[in-house]
Amino acid sequence: MLITFEGIDGSGKTTQSRKLYEFLRAKGINVSLYREPGGTPLGEELRDILIKRELNERTELLLFESARAQLVLEKLKPDMERGAVVILDRFTDSTLAYQGYGRGLDLELVRRLNEFASFGIKPDITFLLDVEPELAVNRIREKTRFDKLEFLKRVRDGFLEIARGEPERVVVLDTRRGEEEVFQSIVDILSEKFPGKFDF
Ligand code: TMP
Repeated sequence: MLITFEGIDGSGKTTQSRKLYEFLRAKGINVSLYREPGGTPLGEELRDILIKRELNERTELLLFESARAQLVLEKLKPDMERGAVVILDRFTDSTLAYQGYGRGLDLELVRRLNEFASFGIKPDITFLLDVEPELAVNRIREKTRFDKLEFLKRVRDGFLEIARGEPERVVVLDTRRGEEEVFQSIVDILSEKFPGKFDF
């Protein structure tokens, strides 16, 4: 089972993915949490480069996909094979939203590379934490090269477009409701959608 969290920088997805991880662990569920880019030694090195260095958009796309392939092989696949619930703080939708909709790279190419790097693994459910970019920029703690307002507006619209295209998989959560309320709806949605797996 794969649960992903998506959203622009400053949307609160890292907080929510950690909360869910702690919650499931406390329920005795076998669960792991990773972030993208990252989660493996190579992935963390690539994260450093991706966040700090000025890169052209093609190099950037390929490095995100490289970090992903490594994470899927080293962690995601083995964890899923042993029956764990895996939570990812960002996955393929981020690449489509940031490098596709944000940077303007060909969407079909990004989709194909996503599929290649993820070995075809798709999330069972994705929580898209939606926030106004104007609000989000003030909340960003770790500054990256991806946090400019105009850019984030395109990325947010991209995420919403992805959600419209796959309403069964992608649940859009309005983060104006506050951290605890958003978390409660995540728990409610999981138990509603996967009753055999999560009876909270
Ligand atoms: P994070 O700090 O939210 O974990 O993400 C690091 C930055 O990397 C964030 O600004 C979004 C960006 N990013 C992409 O541009 N494309 C991707 O595929 C991923 C996973 C992240």
